[in-house]
Amino acid sequence: MTGLVIAVDGPAAAGKGTLARRLATELGLPYLDTGLLYRATGRRVLDAAGDPRDPAVAAAAARALTPADLARSDLRGPAADMAASAVAAIPAVRAALLDWQRDFGRRHGAVLDGRDIGTVVFPEAPVKLFVTASPAERARRRWLELQAKGTAAELSVVAAELAARDAQDRQRATAPLKPAADAAVLDTTELDAEAAYATALALVRQRLGRPL
Ligand code: CDP
Ligand code: CDP
Repeated sequence: MTGLVIAVDGPAAAGKGTLARRLATELGLPYLDTGLLYRATGRRVLDAAGDPRDPAVAAAAARALTPADLARSDLRGPAADMAASAVAAIPAVRAALLDWQRDFGRRHGAVLDGRDIGTVVFPEAPVKLFVTASPAERARRRWLELQAKGTAAELSVVAAELAARDAQDRQRATAPLKPAADAAVLDTTELDAEAAYATALALVRQRLGRPL
């Protein structure tokens, strides 16, 4: 599968990462969680007590990212989530991160997950999946993850945070969250991760027009 680029986009907690990671492992492709780039940028801004909505500050943080930033353990949680979404709305931040994502995918092919992989980063990708699930199911999934980590959180608070972040990601002018015109939409509301993977694999085969 060397050289193949698979774009996996969708709203928060839809199961993009779980699916993309599995596809990459099974197909022998590198995997890139592009959300980490925005999370690490937001985290740098928060560390410097800056405002993630400030374009100059956020763009400087994006340009200064190092591999160590992507490996930090504090890139998740409500503050990091909203800071990521805030910096992600700034065109100069997205521009600073674009070439790095493209170079990653072009080297050996890759499965990349995010919001704009099929629309902006790799519009020519032969396989594009838009993974989604109902807002209630996505909130439940994120809540279960927080429970497993021992982080107490009200389900209603988690649901409100996801809704606010998705609205911000959908409404921004640059690279908004939306399915590419040629993406296959995969609604996983009624599917567990295993069933979602099986359905995705069938879609990949269909898109490539040949067995894998
Ligand atoms: O990357 P994204 O935020 O879209 O979601 P994720 O972190 O991959 O998955 C969120 C949670 O949903 C994980 O705990 C998965 O085990 C679970 N899940 C899933 O990924 N796919 C399903 N079809 C059902 C549940
Ligand atoms: O895992 P989850 O779906 O909650 O979030 P994520 O994929 O790690 O992305 C965090 C935030 O980064 C999103 O809410 C988006 O604002 C932004 N993002 C983006 O704008 N474009 C991408 N390709 C990936 C993430």
